[in-house]
Amino acid sequence: MVELSFGSLTFKVTQGDITKFPAEAIVNAANKYLEHGGGVAYAIAKAAIGNVREYIKISKEAMREQIGRDWIEHGEVVVTPALKMEQHGIKYVIHTVGPYCGGKWDENKKDKLRKAILGALRKAGELKAESIAFPAISAGIYGCPFEEVVKTFIEVVNEFSKEAKSLKEVYLVLYSKKDYERAKDIFGAE
Ligand code: APR
Repeated sequence: MVELSFGSLTFKVTQGDITKFPAEAIVNAANKYLEHGGGVAYAIAKAAIGNVREYIKISKEAMREQIGRDWIEHGEVVVTPALKMEQHGIKYVIHTVGPYCGGKWDENKKDKLRKAILGALRKAGELKAESIAFPAISAGIYGCPFEEVVKTFIEVVNEFSKEAKSLKEVYLVLYSKKDYERAKDIFGAE
């Protein structure tokens, strides 16, 4: 594991399956309707309750209650219980929406990703969580350049560290060894 320290906050990058990662809150790289059709969203829904349709239903009900709408914008987040993932020490799933890139990257996409990460960090703070684990939001199906995603994470966690209270540990949990090796290089260069 490689880590960076920002005041009272440490940001660590590691390899693994986020559905089994022992952080109090894990983040889902969702779409705006919380449909959880593929990627890490599907894996989280499956691990939480087995029946993915059921977790979509729970997520949509939570969205209506917490946001008052049937979709969320970048920066808005919805919280659902971890259910079966509680066996790993996970209490909450924070759903956030990153940008769709399709291989392209610009300031607008970066700003949307920044909002998505910051929204989840602030919600974890509100929930008084001490640890939060993120997947590489937007770096899968949404096709954003992996290096840019990792660099944006580092910038935003640094920015958030100035307002952090309960939160002590932020993890970036990468699924593949290749992504982990690339991220370690980026962390090492900071
Ligand atoms: N643990 C950790 N990371 C994972 C896991 C897992 N179990 N499964 C997949 N990943 C990684 C992928 O390797 C990728 O690097 O999560 C990262 C994000 O990929 P996606 O899940 O494709 O998320 P994103 O690119 O943000 O696309 C969002 O995909 O699943 C749908 O409903 C979601 O429509 C939305 C879109």
